[in-house]
Amino acid sequence: MSGASTYVPKNPVLRWFESRLPVVGLVHSSFVVFPNPRNLNYFWTFGGILAFMLVCQIVTGVVLAMHYTPEATLAFASVEHIMRDVNYGWMLRYIHANGASMFFIAVYVHIARGMYYGSYKAPREVLWILGLIIFLLMMATAFMGYVLPWGQMSFWGAKVITSLFSAIPVVGDAITVWLWGGYSVGNATLNRFFSLHYLMPFMIAGVVVLHIWALHVPGSNNPVGVEVKSKKDTLPFHPYFTVKDGLALSVFMVFFAYFVFFIPNYLGHSDNYIEANPLVTPAHIVPEWYFLPYYAMLRAVPSKLGGVCALFGSILILAFMPWLDTSRIRSSNFRPIYRAFLFVFFADVFVLGYCGSQEPQGAIVLVSQVATAWYFIHLLLITPAMGFFETPRQLPASITEAVLGPRMAGGSGAFAAARTAASPSVDG
Ligand code: HEM
Repeated sequence: MSGASTYVPKNPVLRWFESRLPVVGLVHSSFVVFPNPRNLNYFWTFGGILAFMLVCQIVTGVVLAMHYTPEATLAFASVEHIMRDVNYGWMLRYIHANGASMFFIAVYVHIARGMYYGSYKAPREVLWILGLIIFLLMMATAFMGYVLPWGQMSFWGAKVITSLFSAIPVVGDAITVWLWGGYSVGNATLNRFFSLHYLMPFMIAGVVVLHIWALHVPGSNNPVGVEVKSKKDTLPFHPYFTVKDGLALSVFMVFFAYFVFFIPNYLGHSDNYIEANPLVTPAHIVPEWYFLPYYAMLRAVPSKLGGVCALFGSILILAFMPWLDTSRIRSSNFRPIYRAFLFVFFADVFVLGYCGSQEPQGAIVLVSQVATAWYFIHLLLITPAMGFFETPRQLPASITEAVLGPRMAGGSGAFAAARTAASPSVDG
């Protein structure tokens, strides 16, 4: 959609450079004149927020790594050293630790937005699947990062999750030993987790480039889910969306800063301030909040292998959303019954999260089982069925009509003509 750049720099040196490597032109066509649907709401600002969070995690992580020691007898003390002795080390660590949570808040909003507005539907299937690959890489990165402080929860969390692989028939135990680099979680495990935790954010950055490339081929979906039909339906990325994204990011940063400076340990677990001890199992092993729904699914199924299948299946199944959702309408705004089911699905994920935070006993077990079953029923049965049975509401004829109403968008009458002429399009 961005097409070849027509950008020609005024400065002769830049012009010389641009004719050899047209990188400024690429930025210009992708982030300055790029035509975006004019009706995007604030849910479309989370992609930019995510890009910011990725950079924030890489920058703080690289500096933390300058003072951290990935060795089992020194790791815990090196983190305390960062907190107490390194100038602003406490701030870097709190930004990085809470930054991971902010990253997940943003990604969950971003995914929920995609589900609500049907952004995964053709022609954006590859964009969606690339997003899921990023999500998996994010989960692996966050999991390995949590092991690095080598506290009690780091150690026992690593033990529980890596042991899951032993559920694989025949080769499970061999895989687990291979992952650990020994016969238990130990120094070799910590060292390789550090190496991978440093590597993976750069892999994420690479997939993000593909994600945005795949986005720029069809362009963004929008709240009504009707494709762009004319230039009137769009606005240039700059200044309209740079300003909107900037405002949303500023508000998000205030929220982020509140956690960093006022409640930096609120989202963490106090047991992780106790050094790892392989001989003392914590009373209650819980992962970070963003893994709780998956943890609940893992424990909901009585067999270990079944639990592991539910855990990985719950993410894998999302890759099939473009084909499971049989409706020809994208936006849930025009599908009231499906929308109600989708809200129940979102509530179901919250219920799973709550169950994951509790001891697996009594009613919690039953509620986890019902909520896990509902997760799959929604995606495998309700979503495909709704596309066939629900009659959607009338869609607007165009994005412009959705914004201005049929009379002004229609192009008839002096007011409509004046309004159309005054509205800036991609050509500005
Ligand atoms: C590091 C993580 C990610 C970054 C930096 C990122 C970045 C972006 C950006 C900048 C956009 C355009 C602006 C917007 O629509 O908000 C976008 C769109 C999109 N992203 Fe992501 N994304 C990430 C993760 C994901 C994940 C995990 C998924 C889904 C599983 C996903 C699915 C999508 C979809 C479907 C769109 C198109 C939305 C539309 O046009 O309606 N993204 N992403």
